[in-house]
Amino acid sequence: MLIKKVDFAGAMGNTKQKPPGDLPQVAFSGRSNVGKSSLINTVLNRQRTNIARVSATPGKTREINFFRVDAVSAAEEPVDFFLVDLPGYGYAKVPQSVKKQWQDLLEWYLRNSPQLKGVVQLIDVRHEPNEADRTMIKYLFETEMPALFVLTKVDKLTRSARGAQVRSVVKALGVDPDQVIEFSAVTGEGKDELLDTLESILCESDT
Ligand code: GTP
Ligand code: MG
Repeated sequence: MLIKKVDFAGAMGNTKQKPPGDLPQVAFSGRSNVGKSSLINTVLNRQRTNIARVSATPGKTREINFFRVDAVSAAEEPVDFFLVDLPGYGYAKVPQSVKKQWQDLLEWYLRNSPQLKGVVQLIDVRHEPNEADRTMIKYLFETEMPALFVLTKVDKLTRSARGAQVRSVVKALGVDPDQVIEFSAVTGEGKDELLDTLESILCESDT
């Protein structure tokens, strides 16, 4: 899949708001600081002029952000969709009341989005999924949402450490290794594989 054009289409901060249009959606989810904004910018070719905000202070994205993407499939068919940036969860310094608000919004979105075709779940390759990750993954399984797992920041591991670490995270996730993509926003590794998989998620649901 080739990205042609990307525009910020709007944000959803509470359950009363509606998505900015009637296109299929693919959402990106992960713990705060997992590298979600960096991955989105890489996938959308927006590294120089970022479209998703990258920050050293975690917990910045508090709303569900929608990006309208015009792309073309390998078969040269147009693929138009919303890339949805979900708020990062599990940031310790956020007050409990705010955490609850995020969780409610997230759960509401997952349960009430008929246009949502799948969720890309990000996990930092250096750490086993924690409690917050497991809660999120449980929602995905409960709502029977098609899920793809991306292990981020693989450039931070040495070649020798990487294989074993990937196997151990995949095992902890309890998913099929075919559902897992290794990714780095620094080297661009995994970008094409992710784009191809997004295309199949979006195009399979057309028929
Ligand atoms: P919040 O929105 O704040 O929850 O974070 P996020 O998940 O969007 O993460 P973001 O993309 O802002 O990245 C967090 C930090 O990790 C930044 O300092 C990035 O530069 C760094 N980072 C992200 N992806 C990678 C990667 O693939 N490799 C390396 N080495 N660093 C990365
Ligand atoms: Mg972010």
